[in-house]
Amino acid sequence: MAELSFTKEELEQIEKIKAKFPEVKPATLPVLWVAQNKFGHVKPDVQKLVAETLGLPESHVHGVATFYTQYYKEEMGKFVLDVCTCLSCQLCGGYDILHHLEEKLGINVGETTDDGMFSLQEVECLGACGYAPMLQVTNGQYVNNLTKEKVDKLIEDLKSGKKPEFESMKMPQLEKRNQAAS
Ligand code: FES
Repeated sequence: MAELSFTKEELEQIEKIKAKFPEVKPATLPVLWVAQNKFGHVKPDVQKLVAETLGLPESHVHGVATFYTQYYKEEMGKFVLDVCTCLSCQLCGGYDILHHLEEKLGINVGETTDDGMFSLQEVECLGACGYAPMLQVTNGQYVNNLTKEKVDKLIEDLKSGKKPEFESMKMPQLEKRNQAAS
């Protein structure tokens, strides 16, 4: 694990983030991203570092980090699969997709595979209900209109280091979203 401190460059980046806001608290979200990108998670010791760096109470940083599923409160796999089971996705088979992934990966939701490749999470609406059922890969790429076959291909592509490409992802709205996330 990387040393639990920010580099000079990261501290400069954090100062630039702070300068965008009239007070320090709103910088908590983007600075937690800086921390998660560096350490791979925002476990309590990382939350403490963020709090100390921003001069904010640890309780505030903890509150923000635990509110959002996008911040990882434990070490995760290389790929985090966030399967939406909110209403639209649920009606379109979101739980079938989730259970298929549990079976395929040999883990339950909330767990990581022994090889450290995949973590599986159940999440609230991903904001793309018209393309249900959906999942998101590690806070980035959306994969939409899921079927079990599509999920199988996604897993094989990720395992082999290939960037997953699906015909249905060429929809303009999702293209824009995926480009912004990459
Ligand atoms: Fe799944 Fe909205 S309900 S994206």
